[in-house]
Amino acid sequence: MANSLVLLIFGLVMALGRFSSQAEAARAFFVFGDSLVDNGNNNYLATTARADSYPYGIDYPTRRPTGRFSNGLNIPDFISQRIGSEPLLPYLSPQLNGQRLLVGANFASAGIGILNDTGIQFINIIRMFRQLEYFQEYQRRVTALIGAQRTKQLVNGALVLITVGGNDFVNNYYLVPFSARSRQYNLPDYVKFLITEYRKILLRLYDLGARRVLVTGTGPLGCVPAELAMRSRNGECAADLQQAASLFNPQLVQMIRGINSQVGSDVFVAANTQLMSNDFISNPRAFGFVTSKIACCGQGPYNGLGLCTAASNLCPNRDVYAFWDPFHPSEKANGIIVQQILTGTTEYMYPMNLSTIMALDSRI
Ligand SMILES: *[C@@H]1O[C@H](CO)[C@@H](O)[C@H](O)[C@H]1NC(C)=O
Ligand SMILES: *[C@@H]1O[C@H](CO)[C@@H](O)[C@H](O)[C@H]1NC(C)=O
Repeated sequence: MANSLVLLIFGLVMALGRFSSQAEAARAFFVFGDSLVDNGNNNYLATTARADSYPYGIDYPTRRPTGRFSNGLNIPDFISQRIGSEPLLPYLSPQLNGQRLLVGANFASAGIGILNDTGIQFINIIRMFRQLEYFQEYQRRVTALIGAQRTKQLVNGALVLITVGGNDFVNNYYLVPFSARSRQYNLPDYVKFLITEYRKILLRLYDLGARRVLVTGTGPLGCVPAELAMRSRNGECAADLQQAASLFNPQLVQMIRGINSQVGSDVFVAANTQLMSNDFISNPRAFGFVTSKIACCGQGPYNGLGLCTAASNLCPNRDVYAFWDPFHPSEKANGIIVQQILTGTTEYMYPMNLSTIMALDSRI
């Protein structure tokens, strides 16, 4: 009896301790970018780029589609877990108001790119400049709640994630043969142009108060099931898209180094998602996958053609597939990527990983 009372009190103290330390530790989190990180903004838009029907979300805690391009959790969800906060709401969600605003917001929109003309076929999506305008609007709303000083602290102290660039190749330069952009630029010059435009976006984020920004590169664009189905003969990764990714990613790191030295601080942190994904694409079995070529949900070769819908092939165990649909990693793969973001060496995370960031920032 006495023992169980002691245990009960001990349990309560532990629970309260965990609660208060979580409340202290949770920093705001903001997400910008494309379908790899969209938590459901496109559900509220007239666009074909959406993931709001079965079987999307089949392994999400609610077992329902949310707008995430995953069978379950996506990259921002795993990061939210790691920083001890609840999953972010999409900025367009009517539920995002009052105190919930203080947790942060997700501004990402499937289909967008660095350039305004990327993803035009998806019609009504939130392009990068608009995501940044919404971030300003968000700050005005939070200012009305807690005042300008605390809003500035919240934004400066926040963690930010931006994932964009893949669509500028897949849904622009390589969308059709002889695309407008490919007639305008050869690939190396197009990559330089993208990097110049991306730099402006990152500097704008800095102007808007972001002080810790994880910037992911593109994944191995040529190895996704969609490209294996459309551009590959024997299941090898598509060379043109692989070349695009291997030109883009190192220049992104160079650009980030430049901005950091310009602002005099390691504000921007490059996540080498190409390397992180390559690890499980080249050696799927080491990560518990049976395949990294065939999508769990889809149709045609590699399940790589068309969209993932209720009529598609669907694998019974999503955890043994690296790709959920023709373009997007499975929940399991997203977790592996975030583990590297958290603890990866400088080859994966430059100049430091998220555990180091959290240790540094908690001392301020
Ligand atoms: C994108 O479009 C917006 C609104 O029309 C414009 O303000 C912005 O400069 C454009 N960005 C680029 C890179 O062209
Ligand atoms: C990354 O995280 C690991 C484990 O937390 C740590 O030991 C390592 O030193 C970190 N590396 C960098 C470059 O921050």
